[in-house]
Amino acid sequence: MPTQSTPLPSIAILGAGSMGGAILFGLVRSGLATAGVTVTNRTRAKAEPLAELDGVTSVALEESPEANAEAAASARVVLIGVKPAMVPDLLRQLAPHLKPGTIVVSLAAGVPIATFESILGPDVAVLRSMPNTPAVVGEAVTGLAPGSTASADDVAIARSLFETVGTVLEVPESQIDALSTISGSGPAYFFLLVEEFTKAAVAKGFDTADARVMAEQTFIGAAALLQASDVDPAELRRRVTSPKGTTERAIAVLQEAHLDEVFGEATDAALTRAREIAAGG
Ligand SMILES: NC(=O)c1ccc[n+]([C@@H]2O[C@H](COP(=O)([O-])OP(=O)(O)OC[C@H]3O[C@@H](n4cnc5c(N)ncnc54)[C@H](OP(=O)(O)O)[C@@H]3O)[C@@H](O)[C@H]2O)c1
Repeated sequence: MPTQSTPLPSIAILGAGSMGGAILFGLVRSGLATAGVTVTNRTRAKAEPLAELDGVTSVALEESPEANAEAAASARVVLIGVKPAMVPDLLRQLAPHLKPGTIVVSLAAGVPIATFESILGPDVAVLRSMPNTPAVVGEAVTGLAPGSTASADDVAIARSLFETVGTVLEVPESQIDALSTISGSGPAYFFLLVEEFTKAAVAKGFDTADARVMAEQTFIGAAALLQASDVDPAELRRRVTSPKGTTERAIAVLQEAHLDEVFGEATDAALTRAREIAAGG
């Protein structure tokens, strides 16, 4: 978890749904958003619960149709949290209202920085991010790519913002899709492993509840051990793999299944799909 503690400038989150909302909760928990956070959503149903949060102004467009422009005009950092297809329209609406020096941070998967810069012009700084869903529990990995006019200070502010929900890696935009195949999609790979591991326990005769405890808590415990440890996963694996023992036999079967190739192929497939989507497919 982050250790930084520099207060953040004023922030607007336009579209505080699953991901924008996760970041909002991180910001509130961190206590660093001392200059205030304004969030917008379309509906009152989404906006109302967020208004309860300390230091948060939450506005519904159905009550205040100009809320996006107003929130963006008075914030130093504007986080774009709407669905990717909605981004260009929203940017066109914001462009005349943004103050020079505003930092616009995209959460939108697959929307290039060039789209932002061509609509918003050279007076604002743009950064593209790719967080993942463990942001909800403050354990995200976020890839952060600066646009052509983002300064080191702009990057530092965006980094501090995402560090309120986990760990940040700065990467060039050309690597964002590749990062997404690992950390963006990664939680789904992990959940699939848990599902399959649970099925193996059920097949050994355990009821589903016990099988889930065994599989889920083993993965959670092993992850906690990895986090608390100063050695790498291969060494931790060796420590539970006695020569000629039962684990060694199981690991041999898993290695014969060529997991290295499987993960390579799976992430290649995700990258191919990202390129198809970028090309409009
Ligand atoms: N979820 C993920 O795992 C994940 C990971 C990385 C990146 N992202 C990116 O995060 C963005 C949001 O995804 P999400 O999963 O968080 O979607 P989501 O839960 O549907 O959130 C989008 C939010 O935007 C609001 N909204 C829609 N139109 C708006 C407008 N014109 N102005 C202000 N707010 C508006 C919606 O409010 P109403 O519901 O009231 O309409 C909704 O709360 C996407 O661009 C996605 O690519 C998501």
